[in-house]
Amino acid sequence: MNRTILITGGAGFIGSHVVRLFVNKYSNYNIINLDKLTYAGNLANLKDVEDKPNYKFIKEDICDFDAILKIFRQHAIDGVIHLAAESHVDRSIKDPFTFAKTNVIGTLSLLQASKQCWEDNFDEKLFYHISTDEVYGALKFDNTLFTEQTKYDPHSPYSASKASSDHFVRAFHDTYGLPVIITNCSNNYGPYQFPEKLIPLFINNIRRKKPLPVYGKGENVRDWLFVEDHARAIDIIFHRGKTGDTYNIGGFNEWSNIDLIKVIIKTVDRLLCNKEGESDDLITYVTDRAGHDLRYAIDSTKLKEELGWEPSLQFEEGIEKTVRWYLDNQKWMDDVTSGEYEKYYTTMYRDR
Ligand code: NAD
Ligand code: TYD
Repeated sequence: MNRTILITGGAGFIGSHVVRLFVNKYSNYNIINLDKLTYAGNLANLKDVEDKPNYKFIKEDICDFDAILKIFRQHAIDGVIHLAAESHVDRSIKDPFTFAKTNVIGTLSLLQASKQCWEDNFDEKLFYHISTDEVYGALKFDNTLFTEQTKYDPHSPYSASKASSDHFVRAFHDTYGLPVIITNCSNNYGPYQFPEKLIPLFINNIRRKKPLPVYGKGENVRDWLFVEDHARAIDIIFHRGKTGDTYNIGGFNEWSNIDLIKVIIKTVDRLLCNKEGESDDLITYVTDRAGHDLRYAIDSTKLKEELGWEPSLQFEEGIEKTVRWYLDNQKWMDDVTSGEYEKYYTTMYRDR
């Protein structure tokens, strides 16, 4: 079947992997990547697909409802995979308004455009909203996991804005019958992640022999998933997921920050042929993040049992692949960390 799918935020980290997968796998689909190109959006992430006949890029802000409606009509969009968002918790603590605007109003604008264009016939249409496990709040240090039934309990402005957007998506399903799916995924890692997030930031800082700022005692736990496994899950759910449902996506791969950081240091030192332990002294304990969630861990049993998805990559293999990619792509790293970001990061670090 021919389809025209709008992927929002396709120039960002996860979005670029989703765009690449869909453009390469589905030559009968028109893939439109709509992205505002904020500091986190980078078309260099998609160099390898930019000339493909089934790919088109549109620079636009999801908050501009009139522009979005026009794009829906012009291109006869019949599917949306919505990833565009402000995504960094530390930024949300400094500037919550931008998060409310993009993540809530931006999502509402896409929902309203979908409803207006599709309401005569919802058949074969889908609004797929990408969310996060952070909407569920924080777990204790025990064996509990977030399931699809876990009550929403967001703590940061980022997770509150994502929770709010999830509620709007559900409201459009329940009120207007809009065909929607929501997925809540754990922390992703892999190539093309903006280096304000833990893993690429630390790889870059080790390379440049700069301090590694560990928040608090480094005991917080995250559940890490290789980004290509997330993109594969999105493909499966977009095509075979049940409309109106929520699916959790996770790696069954919990790491405390400090243990993860030690693995990163060891891997970078080995690949750079540094002496073993050479970068250990870069670890610098700094003031904790305000409202820092203790532990996230996802139960993705539903996705495995209903649709057969499982993470494909062992963490050791994924982290090796990731470190190698950042070391081999220093120009990408230098390009995205120059200018405004360098100034922003220096201020962030000074504030701690
Ligand atoms: P990212 O910050 O790398 O990319 C976000 C993209 O959205 C960028 O290309 C940016 O230019 C674009 N964008 C921002 N505001 C926009 C606007 N107003 N209009 C149009 N485009 C805009 O984010 P990411 O890590 O790739 O996350 C993508 C999605 O997945 C987000 O919705 C995030 O909440 C969710 N998610 C991320 C993770 C993770 O670990 N990174 C985990 C679970 C869920
Ligand atoms: P991050 O990559 O920002 O993802 P999230 O906050 O969405 O989980 O952070 C991952 C973990 O690493 C989180 O517990 C905060 C911690 N962290 C640090 O200790 N130092 C840092 O410089 C950063 C960016 C994160």
